[in-house]
Amino acid sequence: MKDQYNRIIDYLRISITDKCNLRCQYCMPEEGMAYIPHQNILRFEEITRLVEIFTGMGVRKLKITGGEPFVRRGVEDLIPMLYEIQGIDQLTITTNGIKDDLLLSLSKYFSGINISLDTLDQDKYKEITRYGELHHPLRALEKLLEQGHKNVKINMVPIRGFNEDELIDFAYIAKESPLKIRFIELMPIGCGKDFQGLSENEILTTLNSEFGEPIPMAYRSNGPATYFTYPGFQGALGFIRGVDHHFCHQCNRVRLTAEGFLKTCLGFSKGIDLGNLIKNGAKDWEIEKAIEKALQEKPLENQFDNFIVEGKEIKNMNQIGG
Ligand code: GTP
Ligand code: 5AD
Ligand code: SF4
Repeated sequence: MKDQYNRIIDYLRISITDKCNLRCQYCMPEEGMAYIPHQNILRFEEITRLVEIFTGMGVRKLKITGGEPFVRRGVEDLIPMLYEIQGIDQLTITTNGIKDDLLLSLSKYFSGINISLDTLDQDKYKEITRYGELHHPLRALEKLLEQGHKNVKINMVPIRGFNEDELIDFAYIAKESPLKIRFIELMPIGCGKDFQGLSENEILTTLNSEFGEPIPMAYRSNGPATYFTYPGFQGALGFIRGVDHHFCHQCNRVRLTAEGFLKTCLGFSKGIDLGNLIKNGAKDWEIEKAIEKALQEKPLENQFDNFIVEGKEIKNMNQIGG
């Protein structure tokens, strides 16, 4: 399917819950979150029906997100259902790795697994996540490597005054194992507004001082990351520059929230409520028409750096899925 700017949209990100077993400070408030009422959450049959409609329209890549996707009850039944859907070439997930056993038992269904990990220090991990035990994501990573999983990435959000001294330690993981480490620019969404990220230049300067000249890579995953490596590395490093619009012109994705709201851009609240349509008995063709209409209104680019633009997203990241 195509949007009004002729961009091919073949990547759907589905948030299957807005709940999370952590409370990363830049993502969610510690208390007082209003969650989507249970009756509004898309049921499994509704999710698979929507995915079938989307595949019929050209979606080939599916990313499962949250909140934390592994806290959705019955996720062990949902994932195989999604895996079976004809037309999906890649089923991937982004998780915090806290439910390591569940992740490891379902890993065979995923062609890509991203684990969020912002620090390698237990005390700091507890500080940034407010609850987390570092041994869970570390065990998940170790076991996925033992399983020989081919596409495991770490999502690291560099935050000024918090983990900027760990950039080189993270890069060593990519030197010594076939993992990809992506440095994500902090986006000013929800609680993210209270923190300051690091620029790509700052990060590169630090890394180059330890590893020498970076080697750009042609490799692309399904998302906006650009990758590079250093001589002697088994794995790779990547940047996700979320704030400026440099990748928006080739945007390939839309998002579905846990209640079935189709978001056409991460940075805006624009979209259409497919959950409401489906719960009111809409036919497949009516849902297709609604999707086509929403795509005709997909914004050209995010406006994170524009403070006064109308319709900006005000939700927290756990309600969007990243
Ligand atoms: P893969 O590389 O294929 O795994 O996809 P991905 O990088 O999109 O997946 P992931 O869920 O790990 O997202 C990593 C980061 O990229 C998150 O912080 C997302 O919020 C961010 N991201 C994904 N898509 C967009 C986008 O369209 N715009 C912006 N600004 N950020 C995005
Ligand atoms: N800016 C950048 N990345 C964020 N994430 C959550 N909130 C933000 C933000 N404000 C990241 C998480 C996770 C991914 C899905 O999104 O760290 O890796
Ligand atoms: Fe949970 Fe991910 Fe948000 Fe952390 S970033 S609170 S792990 S949804």
